[in-house]
Amino acid sequence: MSLAGKNIFVTGGLGFIGSHTVLVLLEHGATVHLIDNLSNSFPRVFEHMKKLAGDKADKMKFTKCDINDKETLTKIFEKETFDCVIHFAGYKAVGESVDKPLEYYHNNFVGTVILLEVMRAFKCKNMVFSSSCTVYGLPEEVPITESAPLKAISPYGRTKLFQEDMFRDIAVSDKEWRILLLRYFNPIGAHPSGDLGEHPVGIPNNLMPYIQQVALGQREFLRVFGNDYPTPDGTAVRDYIHVMDLAEGHVSAVVKTLATPDLGCTPINLGTGKGSSVLEMVKAFESASGKKVEYKLVDRRPGDSVAVWAATETAEKELGWKSKYDVDDMCKHQWAWASKYPQGYDTPL
Ligand code: WQD
Repeated sequence: MSLAGKNIFVTGGLGFIGSHTVLVLLEHGATVHLIDNLSNSFPRVFEHMKKLAGDKADKMKFTKCDINDKETLTKIFEKETFDCVIHFAGYKAVGESVDKPLEYYHNNFVGTVILLEVMRAFKCKNMVFSSSCTVYGLPEEVPITESAPLKAISPYGRTKLFQEDMFRDIAVSDKEWRILLLRYFNPIGAHPSGDLGEHPVGIPNNLMPYIQQVALGQREFLRVFGNDYPTPDGTAVRDYIHVMDLAEGHVSAVVKTLATPDLGCTPINLGTGKGSSVLEMVKAFESASGKKVEYKLVDRRPGDSVAVWAATETAEKELGWKSKYDVDDMCKHQWAWASKYPQGYDTPL
């Protein structure tokens, strides 16, 4: 599928998923203007992206900009016409959102209101939104379909759910809006080159960055949060999806919005449809890295669900997309990134 001649605006474009998605947009012929406020990313990411983009590097440009900065957003939209917006920008740490709900609601929700007001002013009404399986809360059954009940259980999750509700209301009020809500499951892995990956700031909340740091000898051991779940090995199950599969899913979503005048507002799960336990991920990373990952079994983490994995039929039907990489690929590519850049984007070149 080609995006030749299409100009895409990407918020959060220097983030983990945003940076990988921008590269895949370029591969499909698009030009990209990306913004990022650098609250959870680094200017150096753009250097790594330019290296990987090769002769397409001049097809992307970066502006340091916060989505709450209406003046700068307006200036950008005055100068350029965009065919579609992919909106990644937002705070995303579940635990932090419990301590700082106001910052999360302001940045994630009010920021999106401002972005949408600018889009509307310039008649850009095609949106691909970075949503999350977190809007399902603690699912009653798996695989989770897009029609499952929505009940976020953290301020972070509620910011995603409230944004989805806002998008649904906008689509009802103005039929010109075409909005896809992409609900990611657990994004992991890295660019196969090893030159782009996830760089969590501070102590990682998520499993795979933490496992990576244990394998690198930067942390002593992994705490496995609970081994008394009703799962085959007692540890919780998640649908881990390769960041490159996610990036391709976003390109398919942009193509879909451009080709579907009556799209309205549609949620789509982006997952593999397969579940892996915490201990299975430990073993997979050990075999990919050749390193021992020490761990200790500790109590469950409050708010965790037992098992979460996606129903993938909608993505296949609506986007013609399905994941290609398996857990071993995810761990192999993550290790390629980790061993090349053990301090992430702080690693001296
Ligand atoms: C995965 C599993 C933990 C760390 C989160 C967000 C969700 C989405 C994806 C943004 C769980 C276990 C973890 C550790 C562990 N992000 N674990 N030891 O909680 O499924 O989802 O990221 O949209 O919104 O909630 O991901 O990686 O934190 O945990 O045992 O040190 O690994 O208990 O079972 P989670 P996670």
